[in-house]
Amino acid sequence: MDYVLMCQYRQCRKHRENKVDMNDLTKPFKRLPVALIGTGSYVPERRLTNEDLEKMVDTSNEWIVTRTGIEERRIAAPDEKTSDMATQAARRAMESAGVTPEEIDLIIVATVTPDTFTPSTACYVQANIGAVNAAAFDISAACSGFLFALKTAVQYIGCGQARTALIIASEKLSHIVNWEDRSTCVLFGDGAGAAVLRSGTGIEGDSAVLASDIGSDGTLTDLLMVPGGGSAIPTTEENIQEKLYTLAMRGNEVFRYAVAHMKDSALSLIERTGIKPEDVDLVIPHQANLRIINAVAQRLGIPAERVFVNVHKYGNTSGAAVAIALDEAVSTGRARKGDIILLVTFGAGLTWSSAAIRL
Ligand code: COA
Repeated sequence: MDYVLMCQYRQCRKHRENKVDMNDLTKPFKRLPVALIGTGSYVPERRLTNEDLEKMVDTSNEWIVTRTGIEERRIAAPDEKTSDMATQAARRAMESAGVTPEEIDLIIVATVTPDTFTPSTACYVQANIGAVNAAAFDISAACSGFLFALKTAVQYIGCGQARTALIIASEKLSHIVNWEDRSTCVLFGDGAGAAVLRSGTGIEGDSAVLASDIGSDGTLTDLLMVPGGGSAIPTTEENIQEKLYTLAMRGNEVFRYAVAHMKDSALSLIERTGIKPEDVDLVIPHQANLRIINAVAQRLGIPAERVFVNVHKYGNTSGAAVAIALDEAVSTGRARKGDIILLVTFGAGLTWSSAAIRL
């Protein structure tokens, strides 16, 4: 793989001239600043409302809205793949960043619903957008995936191993939801969000990823998981009958850990960067549940008007949720150039992550 990558770089005049070489660790480096230069998102057309769900399982609009804040979610078409949604979001992010596919040298896709176990969804996206100079791979960190991807890309760019990175989170959760289980099927939706990161100027006031934090607790894997379909519980007729390829969750416990870890991760980031909660222009939290969002904001001491919410429109789209929210905040003018935004997520694993970005 290293050999292929090197050959690709040699083929590209731009990389030859700029001497970006992901495999060259011989040069000493100074950490480079990283800027967020574009965002994009995509949600499928089909809306599934709470009223629609009332006809499918024993639930009510009132229960769903009061417990979660969700009013509707988007559902991908049967032939619409995770990579298709990722590609749409990626194209929009590249357009907003004003970068060509050839300029991208790293593509990271965060997903728990890949097109195939292998190759990675990132490779399908690479082919779709024609990013011939990119190395592409997936990461798996569930709802925290987008910020895990961001942190990874920041390391590559920061040490000069990449110049322009495309990070994407894309999920077709409707494919792994048990549509007979009312305790989970009302929560999730499909969609994708993307961002382009590039080595920045380092000039005070310019766009910069100021800090990021990731964490995991692998002792709590059973709180939220898809038990079957992997090497632990392979796909068999019996396992399919038992719906072991669908999401299983202990909702109450997940709720408690989500609030605690999102608060701790955001506070540790705030402490490390020296940013005070009052300096944060907008908090963009993982969009899983309005009650989780409100509890985290309250514990951070950030008023509701500085917290971005779109969970009512899309439900929980896992890693894509915070990426879609970031793009909506930017494209609607809710987050403006120069603003300091704080992204904070939580997901299966358990995993959690946060990032402070000056736009
Ligand atoms: N409609 C109607 N009733 C439902 C229901 C639904 N869709 N889902 C569950 N219920 C019922 C339960 O069966 C239970 O009934 P019982 O008291 O007769 O046993 C009752 O509602 C309360 O269930 P409970 O699980 O205690 O509700 P809750 O207030 O904890 O809310 C969640 C459930 C799932 C909304 C909540 O736990 C949650 O949001 N957890 C975090 C989930 C999450 O965000 N996961 C992803 C993290 S990345």
